[in-house]
Amino acid sequence: MKTKNLIVLLFAMTMGTSCWAQNECKQTENKVIETIMQRRSIRKYKDMPVEKEKLQLIADCGIAAPNAMNRQAWAVRIVDSKDFINGSTEAMKKVNPNITGNDKNMYRNAPAIICVAVPSGDFSYIDAGLMGENMMLAAQSLGLGTCCLGGVAMQLNTRPELKDYLLRLKLPNDYKIAYVLAVGYPDEQPQAKQRDKSKIMFVE
Ligand SMILES: Cc1cc2nc3c(=O)[nH]c(=O)nc-3n(C[C@H](O)[C@H](O)[C@H](O)COP(=O)(O)O)c2cc1C
Repeated sequence: MKTKNLIVLLFAMTMGTSCWAQNECKQTENKVIETIMQRRSIRKYKDMPVEKEKLQLIADCGIAAPNAMNRQAWAVRIVDSKDFINGSTEAMKKVNPNITGNDKNMYRNAPAIICVAVPSGDFSYIDAGLMGENMMLAAQSLGLGTCCLGGVAMQLNTRPELKDYLLRLKLPNDYKIAYVLAVGYPDEQPQAKQRDKSKIMFVE
């Protein structure tokens, strides 16, 4: 075995969390594939703000996603205000004291969030989803972690206690938040969750 390959192998063996999936450590020169395979949902973040330029760049990558008929029928709201993040968490805690568990806030501890809202319609959630993965991969490539939060989106859409915060997002009429993306510098390195490869099939 060549020295370079041996070093790569040793590195991969010692960095269990950098493997794409359990029992599946591969090398690639392809940065996009590497970024896709190394992304994990992050639920613990360092107590560090995220630079506004990075949040802007992540959102720019989001709206670069393909979308049905190029309608761009989405609203993207970047929030890094402690007042919003902690205030909405406290408002929810009044009605559900256990909402955060051991977390600092209801956004899985993140210092910043990106809310993606869409109107109702056949392709809206597809557009929102494609944008979401673009943003998660852009964040990953910038050394940031993310977690897509569906539960919090439902709370923001429906809870009277959060109405003031929903209004602060200034969403167009009839738009609903599809998900909230937690963004921050990761303070954990979760193992990859196994994927069921039998879901993929070549068909003759
Ligand atoms: C639409 C959607 C909603 C999600 N909602 C939540 C949520 O409310 N809370 C949470 O902790 N994770 C949430 N997740 C993250 C998933 O739990 C996570 O993606 C999944 O377990 C796979 O793990 P991985 O992202 O690390 O590969 C959501 C993911 C998606 C795509």
